[in-house]
Amino acid sequence: MHNMILKFLSIFATLSLTTATSLPCILKSFNTGLVCVCNSTYCDNLIINLPVKRSEVHIFSTSKSGLRFHEAKSKFNNEKIKIPNGAFHYGSDMPPYYKRFMQVVQKVEGIDEPVDSVVNVEINRTAHFQKILGFGGAFTGAVSYNLKLLSKELQEHVYKAYYSKDIGIGYNLMRIPIGGCDFDLASWTYNEKPEHDPYLSNFTHLDERDLDKIKQINELKKITKNNDIKIFGAAWSPPIWMKTNNEYTGLSALREEYYQTWADYHVKYLELMAKNNLPFWAISTGNEPLNGILFPYFVHFMSLGWDPAMQGKWLGENLGPAMKNSTFTKNILILGGDDQRYTLPIWFQQMFKSNGDSCDYLDGFAVHWYADKFVPAKMLDDTATLFPDKFIIATEASSGDRPWDMHKPVLGSWSRFEDYTIDIMEDFNHFVSAWVDWNLILDEEGGPNYAKNTVDAAMIATENQIYKQPIFYAIGHFSKFVLPGSVRIKSKPSNRFIKSVSFLRPDGYIVVILYNIAEHSMDVNVFDKEHGVLRLELPAKSLHTLIYK
Ligand SMILES: *[C@@H]1O[C@H](CO)[C@@H](O)[C@H](O)[C@H]1NC(C)=O
Ligand SMILES: *[C@@H]1O[C@H](CO)[C@@H](O)[C@H](O)[C@H]1NC(C)=O
Ligand SMILES: *[C@@H]1O[C@H](CO)[C@@H](O)[C@H](O)[C@H]1NC(C)=O
Ligand SMILES: *[C@@H]1O[C@H](CO)[C@@H](O)[C@H](O)[C@H]1NC(C)=O
Repeated sequence: MHNMILKFLSIFATLSLTTATSLPCILKSFNTGLVCVCNSTYCDNLIINLPVKRSEVHIFSTSKSGLRFHEAKSKFNNEKIKIPNGAFHYGSDMPPYYKRFMQVVQKVEGIDEPVDSVVNVEINRTAHFQKILGFGGAFTGAVSYNLKLLSKELQEHVYKAYYSKDIGIGYNLMRIPIGGCDFDLASWTYNEKPEHDPYLSNFTHLDERDLDKIKQINELKKITKNNDIKIFGAAWSPPIWMKTNNEYTGLSALREEYYQTWADYHVKYLELMAKNNLPFWAISTGNEPLNGILFPYFVHFMSLGWDPAMQGKWLGENLGPAMKNSTFTKNILILGGDDQRYTLPIWFQQMFKSNGDSCDYLDGFAVHWYADKFVPAKMLDDTATLFPDKFIIATEASSGDRPWDMHKPVLGSWSRFEDYTIDIMEDFNHFVSAWVDWNLILDEEGGPNYAKNTVDAAMIATENQIYKQPIFYAIGHFSKFVLPGSVRIKSKPSNRFIKSVSFLRPDGYIVVILYNIAEHSMDVNVFDKEHGVLRLELPAKSLHTLIYK
């Protein structure tokens, strides 16, 4: 008996000795900020060891001054723990006059919350909101192309960094364009020829470009051992002969005689993808339908214009019935919208008004981030209230798209990190269930993009290295910790310099995410009624994920 116990103890000791630890980021400094460098033999990763004892808290931190998933441990009701500033010291510790300054600011702004330099964040684990579906990025033609130029070792680093649950940031969603999109070498669709072919007689097998993607994604699944990836698609444009303007871009609509053909096109694609080993979880009704109606003079890439009434008719009479009619596609979900936040909830109200039943075919609404800075998040709340049985999923985000932006990667950009962080928090605080980034990896110019619509991405490929941009860590602070099936719980900071969102995971762990938006350190007290208070000092411009039972 004694021996047994000793044996167990020694096994336990060996186990804890071999507890894996994360590989740290190798920082590289540019005059625009800090990136993490991966080469063929090295790439930083993230292994989390969950706290075992109740009231113990593990804290992961990323900061403008160079922390990347820095790990610290503390306990509720202990003395304050100070999260260090990174090696590239940024911002100041809280200056003594700060409290007085804050009092003035809050008075001017009419904030009647407790005027204090310590920010209180109350966690209420019994107040439950939406259930979380997950996180991901897009596997565009550009991504496929960029990956092919990398060595096998670097490809594997990319796959693991995103989709490994053990050492990556645990993505479980992936968006794939049906046919081409702007992040491609050229515009393309299936059955471009013969024209005016309602039976799609030439859509009998997959294009080389899709076969390449399938090979790469199945390799990704094998390397990451992740078999829970949900794949969803969206078409940018049909073959031009189905369109009123006979072009890939510009002011357009679907010719009415091809409503059924365009629905069948989706079903054919999904059947062929499934037969070639890449079953889909969902599709949307099409990427950004307003591009072909309101913005044809700004958007120079593939699009198809719809208004909600026409799209409702197509969904209700063609796409919905066709999807339900094939054993391959009847369980595939349909997402509506796939356009900017300002289309919510009006698009669906209009659709409902003109074609009531068509909305029954929709399982959820997809929304893009490009107007989020100008459009209130209340539109998400209104949508959730009006359509309580549909989920909302954020399906596209990238930086550098605006006329006044650098239309390419800005290496190490912290302002883009902050845009991502704040948008993800805002979305989740307003009923969004999943958050999906745009291209998984782009080149140093932010492409390739045949329409010169280059942007930034979380990973940038160079000839023999990969740069992980700060936004990679911004998403990772959520995606690694907020497991699918988590629910958002209530958390409210008492001061606008700290942003927060919190979740209860299916395994019972609480995840609290805090962002210090200030240019100086902030004292934060996290209150959880079951534990007491956790005292923290957070450096300037820093993001933190707290996890505890
Ligand atoms: C890769 O990066 C690691 C860590 O910076 C370094 O030790 C190693 O020499 C690099 N390998 C190559 C092939 O450059
Ligand atoms: C926590 O939320 C629940 C459910 O919304 C509510 O009944 C309760 O009063 C809240 N507790 C506190 C301390 O705010
Ligand atoms: C079918 O499509 C291929 C391109 O994928 C094209 O080369 C061929 O000409 C098409 N066939 C007909 C009959 O149009
Ligand atoms: C359903 O599928 C059958 C067999 O493929 C076909 O004949 C029928 O037209 C389809 N109905 C719809 C509504 O798509």
